[in-house]
Amino acid sequence: MRVLVTGAAGFIGSHTCQALLARGDSVVGIDNFDPFYDPAIKRRNLSEVQASGGDRFAFLQGDLLDQADVDRAFDLGPFDVVVHLAAKAGVRPSIQDPIAYVRANLETTTRLLETCLRRGPKRVVFASSSSVYGADSDAPFGEQAHADRPVSPYAATKRAGELLAHTYAHLHGFDVTCLRFFTVYGPRQRPEMAIHKFASALCKGEPIPVFGDGGSSRDYTYVDDILVGVLGAIDRPQGFAVFNLGGDRETKLLDLIRMLGQALSVQPNLVHLPEAAGDVPRTSADLTRATAGLGYRPKVSIEDGLARFAAWYRISQA
Ligand SMILES: NC(=O)c1ccc[n+]([C@@H]2O[C@H](COP(=O)([O-])OP(=O)(O)OC[C@H]3O[C@@H](n4cnc5c(N)ncnc54)[C@H](O)[C@@H]3O)[C@@H](O)[C@H]2O)c1
Repeated sequence: MRVLVTGAAGFIGSHTCQALLARGDSVVGIDNFDPFYDPAIKRRNLSEVQASGGDRFAFLQGDLLDQADVDRAFDLGPFDVVVHLAAKAGVRPSIQDPIAYVRANLETTTRLLETCLRRGPKRVVFASSSSVYGADSDAPFGEQAHADRPVSPYAATKRAGELLAHTYAHLHGFDVTCLRFFTVYGPRQRPEMAIHKFASALCKGEPIPVFGDGGSSRDYTYVDDILVGVLGAIDRPQGFAVFNLGGDRETKLLDLIRMLGQALSVQPNLVHLPEAAGDVPRTSADLTRATAGLGYRPKVSIEDGLARFAAWYRISQA
């Protein structure tokens, strides 16, 4: 299979490229090294992909907001499927700069879909997010929920991306699978995300910022499990489809911090801060549909996943 991966130098993108290459696929990656977090980290991710890819991997530094760059990527095709992971991620920064999020997440997605329409393939896997369920969906979240009350611009752009994708499936017969990732963690996790940020604070002896009373909870999903879902979606085109990709269970924030402290052998020291706008109180994935449609079953428990993350974190800091 020949696959175009957008956001290839990012956390999930670099792992996706490596998983595709490991099973013999050919991959073209595109990324603009967006400065949302240190581009040196992305270059490091990319060098690990390049080391494992040989001549089945090609990379293009390019911006999906620039049609010439998108065309240059498609010149390296033809592709069987496009895996669209590029985005500005993160809930809180989207409240500060919503216009940048609309451009980075919606204009890019539309450009990509239009280019697929013109040049093929009419087959896309789109990275959506558990944040589309907002603050008032019934838990566990099922894909049939309306998901029409997002509480951050980021969530709104992800839901709008799904709706755009649906339009292309309806009008033009695209196969589009939207994957709602639930808080992904593991090696190369974005440095501003909770587990990575907490590990950094723990190892520097700094207090961990806890927004609210610590009773919020997340369905943390280890990146290896996410990859099984992404590959399953690549291999099973099924018209327009939406799937949750979640972890083995929900974990409360204070429990997460305690477990991470144990994994790193550091006693956590907390500083309590007010609830942050845009954050949802809990996420919890109903995986019934993903199990039936993608054969998706998360295998990595939060305890094992945190131990693996801690091992990677220590090496990455050495
Ligand atoms: N990590 C999670 O927990 C999580 C949860 C839900 C959804 N998602 C979604 O999964 C995808 C990957 O997330 P991630 O955590 O790997 O984030 P990431 O920031 O590490 O990766 C995204 C990559 O996209 C690139 N990018 C951004 N704008 C671009 C543009 N205009 N042109 C080309 N490249 C561009 C960035 O440089 C970055 O390398 C995103 O769409 C994100 O919204 C992630």
